[in-house]
Amino acid sequence: MANKMKLELEHSKLKPAIHNGLAMTECYEPLADHLEKVKAMQLRNDDVLLCSFPKSGTHWMYRVIDMLQRGSTQYYDRNADSTFLDAQLIERLSELASPRVLVTHLPFDHLPQQVKDKRTKIVHVYRNPRAVLVSFYHMMKTFKLNTPEYSETTLDKTADLFFSDNMVYYGWFGHLDNMSAYQAQNPSVPIFHISYEEMTLSPVDTVKKLAEFLGKTVTPEFCAQVVEACSFKKQKESEETLDQSQAALTFYRKGDMNDWKNHLTVAHNEKFAKVLKERAEKCPFSAKYT
Ligand code: A3P
Repeated sequence: MANKMKLELEHSKLKPAIHNGLAMTECYEPLADHLEKVKAMQLRNDDVLLCSFPKSGTHWMYRVIDMLQRGSTQYYDRNADSTFLDAQLIERLSELASPRVLVTHLPFDHLPQQVKDKRTKIVHVYRNPRAVLVSFYHMMKTFKLNTPEYSETTLDKTADLFFSDNMVYYGWFGHLDNMSAYQAQNPSVPIFHISYEEMTLSPVDTVKKLAEFLGKTVTPEFCAQVVEACSFKKQKESEETLDQSQAALTFYRKGDMNDWKNHLTVAHNEKFAKVLKERAEKCPFSAKYT
């Protein structure tokens, strides 16, 4: 029976796992079994999938989409953890009332099969990889995954990991390549691309375009109210009220698109510039950040 409950995620149960070259975490069941269940899961016609590489602004966009879906700027007692495909038990997601904003970092070839038949709307969020690295580093330091590789890491070590094949979810570059291949193979699946930076620089316009994509008729005033309700400060306070677990709080750190400049060295930045430039021609997302 569908109800309004929030599904809690037991972050203490998360542990690193790898399956067929896909590094991520597993939670309540072995990763291979879980990935099969995600593939086979039932979708509803009004589900929206929010797909992103970690630390790209997923929690931010979750709230924005949720408010647009429900036509209200009230914080609904459910968060991005509640619908996190990568870790939640898939059976339990069916307990959630519609509309659902289903969140995932999974590479697109691991999305539920039904996305293709139902032409499920996908919102794909991406962010400057430099900022993703810095945000990921801070998350590794604070997120207790009971593994020293996480808690004892340094920014240099995290940067090495970021550019390696061992990075979670195929890495920032691999995740984008996977998304692009999926999009080319499935042109009828609607995908709306949205960057952290455009949400920062022109939030009202971006929310308006997003609402149009979702098929919602909204006024510019309502879009401005959503932006205001989801400002970093407002959202951090509101989410803290809804969920006081330490893990949840790590998702609201700085909320500044330029904070990476306070952390990355010239050498880190040059490495990014080099790799992004090499990839710019075949990957328009890389080209944006050269
Ligand atoms: P920083 O660590 O750079 O501050 P994700 O939700 O994908 O894990 O992304 C987390 C990043 O988004 C964090 O970045 C976090 O602070 C930022 N963030 C969360 N809510 C935000 C908001 N309302 N506005 C801007 N940034 C936000």
